[in-house]
Amino acid sequence: MILGSDDELDEISAAIAACQRCGLVNTRTKIVPGEGSHRAEVMFIGEAPGRDEDAQGRPFVGRAGKLLERLLAEIGIRRSEVFIGNVLKCRPVSSEGKDRKPTEREVSACSHFLDSQIEKIKPKVICTLGDTATQYILRKYGIKPDAISKIHGKVFEADKLKIIPLYHPAAALYTYRLERVMKEDFRKLKSILSQKTLEGFGS
Ligand code: URA
Repeated sequence: MILGSDDELDEISAAIAACQRCGLVNTRTKIVPGEGSHRAEVMFIGEAPGRDEDAQGRPFVGRAGKLLERLLAEIGIRRSEVFIGNVLKCRPVSSEGKDRKPTEREVSACSHFLDSQIEKIKPKVICTLGDTATQYILRKYGIKPDAISKIHGKVFEADKLKIIPLYHPAAALYTYRLERVMKEDFRKLKSILSQKTLEGFGS
């Protein structure tokens, strides 16, 4: 049996484009389904698109995305080698036109798309970026989440999947010392990816 295909990811993107389950359909510019191969062994999951992502229809293309790319490059990974996405596929925007946190309702309306992407891609590692993604993914796999400040860089196992909570790169843009913490966590990720079961990655 062939597991997943880019066509199947395209089908999910088409369903996202047609979705009207929450009000963000009225305020978004572009949907941001996520990008990467259906064969990616590692998925990075953030919270939701921001202004830049909404304009371009691509995840993590703003300042936080540049930092994410740099952290990946430092451990020898190009963004095209992984899948990068978000819990929400449309930008949550405040009445003042600013980025805001997703509501619980928006998360429950949208997260089935992420579930389908995970099901198609069948990653070996999911790295969650920040609190929203960490809480969603750990709960999905029956693990009680804790604050990201307590569990960043730890490895949780669910079935054959490893889940590694990481700080959101945007946090490191505001709190400079977190960039060093993130670099350490990315080095841990590299050593996990270099283990035999994930050969060929990050080596
Ligand atoms: N922050 C996120 O959580 N996701 C993006 O795609 C961009 C910024």
